[in-house]
Formats: sequence, structure tokens, C-alpha cells
Amino acid sequence: MGVPREKSPDIAKKYEKEAVRVTYSTIYEAAGGGPAIRDLVERFYPKVQEHPLLAPLFPEDIRPVMEKQYQFLTQFFGGPSLYSDLHGHPMMRGRHLPFPITKERADAWLDCMRRALEETSLSPELQRIMLDRLSGPAYHFVNS
Ligand code: HEM
Repeated sequence: MGVPREKSPDIAKKYEKEAVRVTYSTIYEAAGGGPAIRDLVERFYPKVQEHPLLAPLFPEDIRPVMEKQYQFLTQFFGGPSLYSDLHGHPMMRGRHLPFPITKERADAWLDCMRRALEETSLSPELQRIMLDRLSGPAYHFVNS
């Protein structure tokens, strides 16, 4: 009795396939959690600092901004609510109001992010999903 012998290789194959198909419930998890967000932020800000349209808006000491961005992106992509726990409600559009954000600057910000994502080992599909998710807020922050 039990599993007919001739069927068992098929069953083994089925489970072998299922074992590699892992599902994640958040982008944060799919990307690899905190270290992956940290890596992305580390790759992103040097590009911002080199960009002629973006650099003038940012302070010379970029570290505090990077830390806040790490906290924010962690929660934005479905990880722990690091940003809100430390700084309260994000109100991100409001926090950007002191800075003249044009459509060109939103494009530039997203382009820096696209290039930072490209440098990571994240799958092209996940890169596209993350960039898509960020483009809504980026254009929403346009205020000038
Ligand atoms: C659209 C183009 C954008 C521009 C030009 C821009 C520019 C800036 C600037 C100048 C700051 C302040 C730096 C400082 O502390 O002096 C800032 C802060 C920040 N930005 Fe953006 N940003 C843009 C889009 C985004 C997007 C799309 C996100 C995330 C969805 C984001 C997340 C943040 C966060 C988390 C902070 C720190 C806020 C805080 O001080 O608590 N930004 N941004």
C-alpha cells in the first residue's frame, strides 16, 4: 500500500518545486529585510548628493537623513514602524513643503533610486515594484 512506486518520482519533483517557491507577505521581507533597506539607502544618497538638481536641497551631513530614510522605507515597504515610533506620523508631503520640489526634481529623485536599485542584487521584478511604489509619493510631493 502507500504511494504507488511508479508515482513517487513525480511527487518528489512536485515537492522539490514547491520548496523553492517561497511567498512573502511584504516587499520588506521579499527584499531581505533591514540589511537590504540599509544597502539601498547607502547606494541612493551618494547619487542624490551628486545630482545637480537635488544636491543643493540636502545638508552636507547626510547621515541623519539617511537614518530617517532607512526608518521610513522600512515601514513604507511593510517592515516595523521605525519611523513613526521615533518621529510620529510621517506626514511626508508636509515635511517636504519647506523644499521646492518640482516635477524635474521628482524625476531626478526616482532616477537616483532606480540606479541605486540596479546596483543591488534584488530581482528586476522587485526593483520595478519598489520603484513603482515610490513614484506615487514622489510626484505627490511636487509643490513648486
Ligand atoms: C520627489 C523628490 C524628493 C525630493 C526633492 C526630496 C527631498 C528631500 C529633502 C530636501 C529632505 C530634507 C533633508 C533635510 O533633513 O534637510 C527630505 C527628507 C526626507 N525625504 Fe525626501 N525628497 C523627495 C522624495 C521623497 C520620497 C519619494 C520619499 C519616500 C517615499 C522621501 C522620504 C524622505 C524622508 C523619510 C525624509 C526625512 C524626513 C524627516 O526629516 O523626518 N522623499 N527629502
